[in-house]
Amino acid sequence: MALTERHISQEPAGAQATDRTAPATSTAGHLAPVAAIPPRLFGSFVEHLGRCVYGGIYEPGHPTSDRYGFRSDVIDLVRELGVTCVRYPGGNFVSTYAWEDGTGPRDARPIRRDPAWHSTETNQVGIDDFYRWSQEAGTEIMLAVNMGTRGIAAALDELEYVNGAAGTTLADRRISNGITEPMDIRMWCIGNEMDGPWQVGHMTAQEYARAVDKVAHAMKLADSGLELVACGSSNAHMPTFGEWERTVLTTAYDNLDFVSCHAYYFEHGHADLQEFLTSSQDMATFIDTVAGCAREAKEDNGGTHDIALSFDEWGVWYSDRWNRIEAEWKANAAAVHHDPWPKAPHLLEDIYTVADAVVEGSLMIAMLKRCDSVRSASRAQLVNVIAPIMAEPNGPVWRQTVFYPFAEAAHHARGTAYAPRITGPVVHTRAYGAVQAVDAVVTWDEESRTGLILAVNRDAAAEHRLDVDCSTLPGITDDGLHATHAIQLHDADPYRRNTATAPNSVTPYAIHTITGTPATLTFDMPAISWTAVRFTA
Ligand code: AHR
Repeated sequence: MALTERHISQEPAGAQATDRTAPATSTAGHLAPVAAIPPRLFGSFVEHLGRCVYGGIYEPGHPTSDRYGFRSDVIDLVRELGVTCVRYPGGNFVSTYAWEDGTGPRDARPIRRDPAWHSTETNQVGIDDFYRWSQEAGTEIMLAVNMGTRGIAAALDELEYVNGAAGTTLADRRISNGITEPMDIRMWCIGNEMDGPWQVGHMTAQEYARAVDKVAHAMKLADSGLELVACGSSNAHMPTFGEWERTVLTTAYDNLDFVSCHAYYFEHGHADLQEFLTSSQDMATFIDTVAGCAREAKEDNGGTHDIALSFDEWGVWYSDRWNRIEAEWKANAAAVHHDPWPKAPHLLEDIYTVADAVVEGSLMIAMLKRCDSVRSASRAQLVNVIAPIMAEPNGPVWRQTVFYPFAEAAHHARGTAYAPRITGPVVHTRAYGAVQAVDAVVTWDEESRTGLILAVNRDAAAEHRLDVDCSTLPGITDDGLHATHAIQLHDADPYRRNTATAPNSVTPYAIHTITGTPATLTFDMPAISWTAVRFTA
């Protein structure tokens, strides 16, 4: 079978079927086991921001909404995306949030200003409602507490309300609000980006280290089974990056299970495309640095448990656009103070390209290759706001380009992740030097004897062929393996997007692969493409 064959009916828009010479070949072999893949790696994030909650997951009166006002068409896509765990309710929003405001009869809930996003919060959705939503969507909740304007007392109250058994005032209040059983939320974030000068109540590393230690200590006294996440640096370019992690993790080591990492990437103009495509190099260094800080904290404390990484905000976000809007607001102080604070405004509604999807696919590969350290992750965010799912007001839902690489990994990366040694042509970047054009990870579930290869061609200009040698996977016999499903995301125009009116402009198309002996799979990847191959053996 010729490698150039494709299902022509599913040819990507704009692709050209031409005779051509074989592309340069990369090889992926010497598969090194990393760790069992944690289900929480396929988490997402719902913040009270823009139209993520109001007009996103929640739209009473929408034809598909249930009796609580949640859109079932959105829930269907959340399930299709394969999301396992959802971080809630922020984000920057959480730093002034009073969780009690979102409980009890909806018509009696207070209306507040949200300074983080300069919006009006109606509190029509709160923890009880979100719990009901998560039950419908089949996701775990990862709950964030307010460390900006609040602290120990509010965190303990929220914990009692959410997880307490009947018989105390707060647990009984939850029961009277209709949630009869404890929610049993295990994973809690102690604040959000507390190093950021933009964060309400932001702190120095020493201040936050003491504060998180006290809150985490108190929460674990109340429930020793909790898994607690400390804020790491807001991003790897913060001036205190590294020092912050060392201070916080060493001080609060005994009471922590995770440290949070956040990283967003975007293309700084078309001349920057090659740099953008290799963004996962930055994420890899970020992970290795924070994992090193966590090891240091363990050693300094003579500890026995590992602090894992919770990469609880990651993805492509054209944050430069938001920064410009915010700067304009600040320059025009009169408008900020006198404008009505909008309810659920259109904020951060980035529309993603093919290149964005390839980058997100490569970020997922970077995390899978380091899932011994990264034991939880939340792609930010879920609906409308920098999101894979878009929900039109009183209209349909549609999938952004970035939906597809996430969904494939979430549904089919099972068992153990294996990091291949990759050799082949490189691309040259200013930020990262010479970088392998192709990146890949292999996952293999020995029990079901099913595997997945995820690969990206990060070269902005050239096609590449990839040979993946799976012969060292445990239990592979001389019979070799065979591909059961092979798909690719690419377009001749790397800036092609899906939109509300053309929701299927970019979708994965089927490709052919070649199976070799003893157990290799070979496929071609056009410039700027993402590929997934499921196999059995
Ligand atoms: O996801 C959008 C924002 O990005 C979050 O509120 C904040 O934590 C981060 O800076």
